[in-house]
Amino acid sequence: MDNQVDGVNVSRVEELNAGHVNDVMRLIDRVGWSVPMERLRLHFRVGQVLGYFNDNTLAGTVTIFPWQKDIVGVGNLIVHPAYQRRGIGQRLLEHAMSAGDVRVQLIATDEGYPLYRKNGFQVTGEIVRLSRNASPGADGHPAIVDKNTRVYRVTRVSDMDEADLQCLIDFDRRVSQVDRATLYRGLCHSLDTYIITATANFDELGGAIVYALEGDRIRIGPVLGQTPAHARRLFETCIGDFHGPVNLDMLADSKELLSAAERAGFTASRTSPFMERVGSLPPLSNTGRFALFDAAMG
Ligand SMILES: CC(C)(COP(=O)(O)OP(=O)(O)OC[C@H]1O[C@@H](n2cnc3c(N)ncnc32)[C@H](O)[C@@H]1OP(=O)(O)O)[C@@H](O)C(=O)NCCC(=O)NCCS
Repeated sequence: MDNQVDGVNVSRVEELNAGHVNDVMRLIDRVGWSVPMERLRLHFRVGQVLGYFNDNTLAGTVTIFPWQKDIVGVGNLIVHPAYQRRGIGQRLLEHAMSAGDVRVQLIATDEGYPLYRKNGFQVTGEIVRLSRNASPGADGHPAIVDKNTRVYRVTRVSDMDEADLQCLIDFDRRVSQVDRATLYRGLCHSLDTYIITATANFDELGGAIVYALEGDRIRIGPVLGQTPAHARRLFETCIGDFHGPVNLDMLADSKELLSAAERAGFTASRTSPFMERVGSLPPLSNTGRFALFDAAMG
């Protein structure tokens, strides 16, 4: 389907590699988004980043996160403004939808929404973007790195041994119903990503929170608990030790966690539709619906 002139592809979709990271960053800047370089590098490690080239210019990109055989996350679908409304976004999205009977999940912007609706995506949730500014008197140190208490333990993901990593992956799979092994293994290369774990009874994992340092901010990723109450308690315990600015995205129907965040001084800057195209597959539980990479860790 590529356009050919004298046997040479003038427009084509190609898988990108880490050598294209600056080109993708330029596209991201061009549409006014702010994605830290470290997170973009992580996308290259755990997802399949595609580029649409017009001649040799990168005109569009999409990242496909194949979490498990029936769940695919889509992130960073961007077409350079000079190339929009020529079918490039549609073509890139078709790559993400080409895996057959899978759930395709994404968080939509206002600009992306019409394209997704046209392709059969439905809004199945709402993502609340929460943030909290630095606490008064904070010394600027954003995280609770290296602070271990009786209740919880902080570990740099890259320092986890295989057994602990597998335990985390299994725990996540049990509580979220999604296998995010690819994500956790990809995080092992990120020096700025940490995990806080809490034990329940008899050394059993009761909850886990993943967070990344992004400049002077912390971005909290999945907050996992054996039950919503476990997740909330771990979150409340930890959040008191975060003194710098914090960002956190969550599904609006995670009611218990959302009220805890509001009590802890978080405010919602905006909400975005969580959209899915599920084909003939049954719907997932609330937590399973939040398998999407970008909101989970980005
Ligand atoms: C969303 C985006 C990727 C669409 O890319 P695109 O190449 O312009 O989209 P396409 O040309 O393939 O559009 C396909 C169809 O989607 C719909 N569509 C796309 N952009 C639209 C818009 N701005 N308004 C209304 N409908 C739109 C139309 O039905 C369009 O078909 P048509 O042109 O025949 O009417 C692009 O606008 C973009 O990069 N926006 C900024 C980044 C962003 O918000 N990305 C979405 C992340 S969730």
